[in-house]
Amino acid sequence: MRKHVKNNVSWVGYIDWELETFHGDDYSIMNGSSQNAYLIEEEKTVLIDTIWTPHRFDFVENLKKEIDLDKIDFIVANHGECDHSGSLTALMDLIPETPIYCSAQCVKSLEGQYGKRGWNFHVVKTGDSVEIGNGKKLVFVEMRMLHWPDSMATYMTGDNILFSNDAFGQHYAVEELFNDKADQCLLWKEAMKYYANILNPFSAVLAKKLQEIAGFNLQFDIIAPSHGAIWRDNPLQIVKKYAEWADAYQENQVTVAYDTMWEGTTKIAHRIAEEIHLQSPETVVKVFNIAKADKNEMMTEIFKSKAIAVGSPTVSNSILSSVAGWIEFAKQLKFKNKKAAAFGCYGWSGESVKILQEKLKDAGFEVIEDNVRASWVPTEADFEAIPTLVSHLLGV
Ligand code: FEO
Repeated sequence: MRKHVKNNVSWVGYIDWELETFHGDDYSIMNGSSQNAYLIEEEKTVLIDTIWTPHRFDFVENLKKEIDLDKIDFIVANHGECDHSGSLTALMDLIPETPIYCSAQCVKSLEGQYGKRGWNFHVVKTGDSVEIGNGKKLVFVEMRMLHWPDSMATYMTGDNILFSNDAFGQHYAVEELFNDKADQCLLWKEAMKYYANILNPFSAVLAKKLQEIAGFNLQFDIIAPSHGAIWRDNPLQIVKKYAEWADAYQENQVTVAYDTMWEGTTKIAHRIAEEIHLQSPETVVKVFNIAKADKNEMMTEIFKSKAIAVGSPTVSNSILSSVAGWIEFAKQLKFKNKKAAAFGCYGWSGESVKILQEKLKDAGFEVIEDNVRASWVPTEADFEAIPTLVSHLLGV
């Protein structure tokens, strides 16, 4: 069922209340999500994006209830990833001649996923535009690597709506559709999680793109992303927030993350957390067992942190696989401007701290030499290293 966005623009997407993971199982969904598609009915009828493949037949049936599909003058595919293009196959079977406006990379992406189907592509680049009647037009802005090479945004003049696709989105289901109607706590939590886990690796590209868009001197009445709430109340607030997040973001927070075999490394983790609070009561301290906590929620906390302490016992001359995989994920997210320290217990060979330090350095963290390396069960003598380690982590 359509939802009204502004004037002749409607939302025709899908709210997925039951979605539990995204990107396979790589991204946890805690509060549902949505795939937002939009229908513009000016003198020209335009569909902006579609929804994920499993819902393609429902999408087409629902769209048929709203309009005669033959009235669609053209489709804009802002991004080829299947959560936005997945219904194209079912739709194009019914209206095969309909032009699809998209970037050159998007043609590659769509043909790569769905095969060469003879679709009527109109390749566009930044600054290209198309008239849609009533004095309005759609202007295209390439958003390369935000977060795929093909990503694009579309700006509608007259109504001043930016269809931003993945940028400014959240994996968050909002029946009421708009940011001013959403639970503000969840909205911002999910917006930050989305940024930290999906967009952070492209922060440098994003910062440049925000400057480029600012140079266009456009007015933004609405920013309509392809996931989650639509920003209609002060839409620039999310743009400002992205500028902040793209600039080596950190808060006064330290996160302690570890895994353990027989609780020795846990004891060190807890003592480090206590010491952080003791030395700096205003610093937020978060503690996670890597094997038990949600990895995407943890990465959001790392994104907020100015420093982290990571622990693993030594196992088979190495570290626990849970911690190794977790650091690899952190490396992918390309965090900047964050200190890190290592700690862990061992029975005999005791390589874990050194390996953790190397891996954290390789993942882009500023690793301090201070560490806690305890033989068998940590003792008060082992804990003596913690105050200095924490003061160096805090930079005091
Ligand atoms: Fe929401 Fe990159 O797809």
